[in-house]
Amino acid sequence: MSITEFLNLGRQPIANNFIKNGEKELFFNLGASFNDETNLVSLSNFVDKNKLFHDQYAYSSSMSITMKKHFKQIAEIIKKFNPSKILEIGSNDGAFLFNFSPKKAIAVEPCGNFSNLLKKAGYISYTRFWDLNLVNEILSKYGKMDIIYAANCMCHIPEIEESLLAVKNLLNDNGILIFEDPSLEEMIKRGSYDQIYDEHAHIFSILSLNKLLNNNNLEIRKIEKLSVHGGSNRIYATLNKNNFLKKDNSVDKFIKNEELNGLNKLNTFIEFSNKIKKSKIDLISLLDSIKDKNIIGYGATSKSVVVYNYCKIKDNYINYVVDTTPSKQNKLIPGVHIPIIKYTKIKNNINYAFLGAWNYEKEILKKEQDFIKRGGRFITHVPYVRII
Ligand code: TMP
Repeated sequence: MSITEFLNLGRQPIANNFIKNGEKELFFNLGASFNDETNLVSLSNFVDKNKLFHDQYAYSSSMSITMKKHFKQIAEIIKKFNPSKILEIGSNDGAFLFNFSPKKAIAVEPCGNFSNLLKKAGYISYTRFWDLNLVNEILSKYGKMDIIYAANCMCHIPEIEESLLAVKNLLNDNGILIFEDPSLEEMIKRGSYDQIYDEHAHIFSILSLNKLLNNNNLEIRKIEKLSVHGGSNRIYATLNKNNFLKKDNSVDKFIKNEELNGLNKLNTFIEFSNKIKKSKIDLISLLDSIKDKNIIGYGATSKSVVVYNYCKIKDNYINYVVDTTPSKQNKLIPGVHIPIIKYTKIKNNINYAFLGAWNYEKEILKKEQDFIKRGGRFITHVPYVRII
């Protein structure tokens, strides 16, 4: 087995740590590596989870209409399975779990600000990280679960083998594990290197998940492509081959496609890395070529923090960043310290907006028709650097 770092995005701050002027920051070296045995792509160095997920955690799922709709839809699908007990790993602000009765649902969320929201609404909510000790406690109190759901959470867990063993121990024989995370295939296709940040301990391919799940007697039964978070996959896995959820042809399709796209070969990731080095040069050249530098950032996403820091884009290029999330407003973009202000309609003196929230491109372009009509333009680096 060999693990090779294929991309280094340099010195980076904690991506979701939007700071006030003068506040101290923690920096680390952000690199991504490929394991040729498990085919897993992971960060070269994991960041201490207590520094990432805590009581001031900024990202709130319900702030986005797209995500609220998304969780309502998957909740409707799950309701058809008629589960009597459902547990969510990483329940954030309850955007998913609030679709179920507190009598049926258990939340696990290490960030106290969010876990307390669920407690207040009458849910059983563990302000804890997902691990074997926690699962033993839940098992002895509530027994096994019919559905274990996780959205953008499994990929956050450095100890992925232990977390899947914990799932296996808590899942009913006829239960279903349903989880969704950013797709490695989409990241490679879109050149969206900003999927690689401190919270994303791994970027999963189906090839790697298939191996990891099989090691814990879990079998993938079905996979769905999702448009959220810059392209994700939703995986349905079960313990028991006789589960009512039958294996469909999506599984082999995904596996074949990923093999065809070389997601099991180091060379694919080296090529990706070369593309990213070019993306950095192209973005700086584009910003340099804009004479009148009235450029703002649109969306203080954790992804954009990676881009700003990797490309060393500061307030010499971007006047300020607008964002709708109250906890990010009047703070600074980590590392490069561009001010973040409350979103209002884009001001008349602004000609360009860098699309930090490129994963909401459709929603934003629709919303900003006035800006576009008066000649305003969005800049993006996905799938390549350009003016939209
Ligand atoms: P996410 O990519 O982690 O979901 O974060 C999206 C961020 O972008 C969040 O802070 C809200 C912000 N945003 C806006 O400010 N305006 C918008 O129209 C959209 C869709 C997102």
